[in-house]
Amino acid sequence: MSETHLRRPAEAVFADELEALGKIDDSPRPANWRLSPQAVVTYLLGGKLKGGGEITAKYVGNRRLIETAVATLATDRALLLLGLPGTAKSWVSEHMAAAISGDSQLLIQCTAGTDENQIRYGWNYAQLLAKGPSREALVATPLMRGMEAGKIVRLEELTRMGSDVQDTLITVLSEKTLPIPELNTAVFAERGFNIIGTANNRDKGVNELSSALKRRFNVVVLPLPSDMEEEAAIVVKRVRELGSGLELPEIAPADKEIQRVVTIFRELRDGQTLNGKMKLKTPSSTLSTAEAIAVTIGAWSEAGHFGAGAIDAGSLAGNLVGAIVKDPVQDAIVLQEYLETVVRERKDWRDLYGAIREVL
Ligand SMILES: Nc1ncnc2c1ncn2[C@@H]1O[C@H](COP(=O)(O)OP(=O)(O)OP(=O)(O)O)[C@@H](O)[C@H]1O
Ligand SMILES: [Mg+2]
Repeated sequence: MSETHLRRPAEAVFADELEALGKIDDSPRPANWRLSPQAVVTYLLGGKLKGGGEITAKYVGNRRLIETAVATLATDRALLLLGLPGTAKSWVSEHMAAAISGDSQLLIQCTAGTDENQIRYGWNYAQLLAKGPSREALVATPLMRGMEAGKIVRLEELTRMGSDVQDTLITVLSEKTLPIPELNTAVFAERGFNIIGTANNRDKGVNELSSALKRRFNVVVLPLPSDMEEEAAIVVKRVRELGSGLELPEIAPADKEIQRVVTIFRELRDGQTLNGKMKLKTPSSTLSTAEAIAVTIGAWSEAGHFGAGAIDAGSLAGNLVGAIVKDPVQDAIVLQEYLETVVRERKDWRDLYGAIREVL
């Protein structure tokens, strides 16, 4: 993995922090864990190290939630991170796997097309024909490799795959074994193996987890940021990190514009203005923190490459409309109304009013 890759996994980007934490970490570590549970929480939430040095915060939010999540992984129950889209479920799961196992890449992206072979194991048919069923002909999935190595396996968007496929996990979670009837053997999970699943509240109805499976997961719900300051701080921080990672052209700090983006997102999401005085219609789009970050990054790229070197109403407008208007008819009406009743009335938002009108 080198610097030229578009995206490097957490354990590569934060290798220094993980190493520094490992050196001073003298609390007991569960078998096959790279760090103790306390150190994993420090890695996620940030903090100062005893001997000097600092760990950056990866997740901004409630410490108790993260402690519960990490503690769960040290038990025989699996962890399910639940929440609205863009509440950092995948982000937290990647960082937890990186800190605990030093490897966040044992990942299965669950979709409607995921079948049992992608969860349990598949066959290399050339080998199968040549040699018959044998261990060499077996294609191990990330789940199988995680069980053998005693590592954390990530299952993204668990509820998107069919219920019958989900239920293959029951034996793995309750017996900690993966039977291979064709070879008359089984893979027994090493200590340190566990699963982090993520699922989206909005997809709840897609393929809801069976109650048998639900019982084997401890659910931790990641909430939306509680207030405006927290959400803006997350966006400012992530935009800075992502923008410099993408090597976007240098621009003036955009904190003030980010305040406006987050205000618009929160107001439309909550269906009322921040001061609670006016009720608003809500669009069909999710308007998550993740999208606020994406809007700002888009505006940064536009401002850096085509604009005056600072994010302004002009570079924000197109990106904002793109994020809010997902349904060209309904959402456009909602935004139009918001524009006329709220944006127009705010004196220092006149530039934004004009710019959005131009693109809507
Ligand atoms: N509380 C938070 N602290 C730090 N980063 C956050 C927070 N909330 C959102 N983010 C940022 O939002 C981005 C998107 O998060 P992520 O993709 O993990 O969301 P998700 O919950 O998995 O969404 P989805 O349900 O769409 O898969 C990440 O870059 C993450 O840093
Ligand atoms: Mg996700």
